Amino acid sequence: MTPKKVTCVVGARPNFMKVAPVYRALQARGLDVRLVHTGQHYDERMSEIFFNQLDMPRPDAFLGVGSGSHAVQTAKVLTSFDEDCDTFGPDLVLVAGDVNSTVACAMVAAKRGIAVGHIEAGLRSRDWAMPEEINRILTDALSDLLLTPSADGDENLGAEGVPSWRIYRVGNLMIDTLRRNLERARALPTLDELGLEAANYAVVTLHRPSNVDHPDQLARLFAALGKVAERLPIIFPIHPRTRQRLEAAGIDVAAGIELLEPLGYLQFLGSMASAKLVLTDSGGIQEETTALGVPCLTLRDNTERPITVDEGTNTLLGSDASKIVPAVDQILATGGKTGRVPDLWDGRSAERVADVVCGGFPTLLEGG
Ligand code: UD1
Repeated sequence: MTPKKVTCVVGARPNFMKVAPVYRALQARGLDVRLVHTGQHYDERMSEIFFNQLDMPRPDAFLGVGSGSHAVQTAKVLTSFDEDCDTFGPDLVLVAGDVNSTVACAMVAAKRGIAVGHIEAGLRSRDWAMPEEINRILTDALSDLLLTPSADGDENLGAEGVPSWRIYRVGNLMIDTLRRNLERARALPTLDELGLEAANYAVVTLHRPSNVDHPDQLARLFAALGKVAERLPIIFPIHPRTRQRLEAAGIDVAAGIELLEPLGYLQFLGSMASAKLVLTDSGGIQEETTALGVPCLTLRDNTERPITVDEGTNTLLGSDASKIVPAVDQILATGGKTGRVPDLWDGRSAERVADVVCGGFPTLLEGG
């Protein structure tokens, strides 16, 4: 089938930078494109600021689902996106990443007989305790177009028995956005405003339930970060979920750790690009640091992005807080891991998505 009307879905912060370049590329090819925001993330600094900075138009529809348990949040997206499909009648729905909005919209579309394309298909952490892993596997099962960022994605899908006609390796869309905005980000006075000196500070982000939902684990991580802050200053733009947990647990934040409100895309990109190192449990930041050549320590036991470890600057540290200080000392002593930028992380992924969509493709409904 060759679609004419495409709905692009965004829901949470990491979706915006993946969908922005695709939206632009599809519009440039003359398709009728609708942008739907489910409202999973709704704070100004988790959502609105990205539309301004990424040259994305206001969404055509804002579903306003907000926060809630996984079931409630997913259910609200199901019912409200179903109604949105009545309004627009898309023949392709594009979803991105692994958040609850992703799987919910894919399910609505598949049940309505609408083709589904999954941006960032094929990633696997093999950790069934992660809600994102469940979302990834279900979304891939529902998708006609599996748009993968790297060869490991194709291999994971192949190993699950997915036929090759559904798999299209397009590269990393998040890196399209990074390359488009890097100079703009570097030109901002972010470092001066934060009182930082290039290559002499660390950036930290943490928001995964495995790190922030258990007060003891969160306290151990903050104690270790306090020791890191004796070596170099830390900025920590804090996710609302992490701030809630930190305050509820009454954990002291050491001097030298500056907690900031969530930063805009450009400010955050600029601060990563000049950092000595980054400590994170985010998925996207593992990729962005690899593209920037900045050493990254990932505070998780697994990653769905192994290419950032095999080829890039990422080191999987695990969840044991006692490993943080030695790993930071090693980076300070040696400069840390240097890597290379993986294949097809070249800023042209959205054009490849547009080629696939406009070139026509077989669907699950037609039997392939
Ligand atoms: C979600 C994604 C996660 C992604 C992360 C990026 C799922 C299952 N998880 O996790 O994969 O890495 O986004 O940020 O979809 N909150 C606010 N304001 C907001 C958004 C959230 O205050 O704009 C608070 C709410 O209290 C909410 C909590 O943060 O309960 C968690 O938000 P939620 O969207 O449920 O999940 P994230 O932890 O953000």
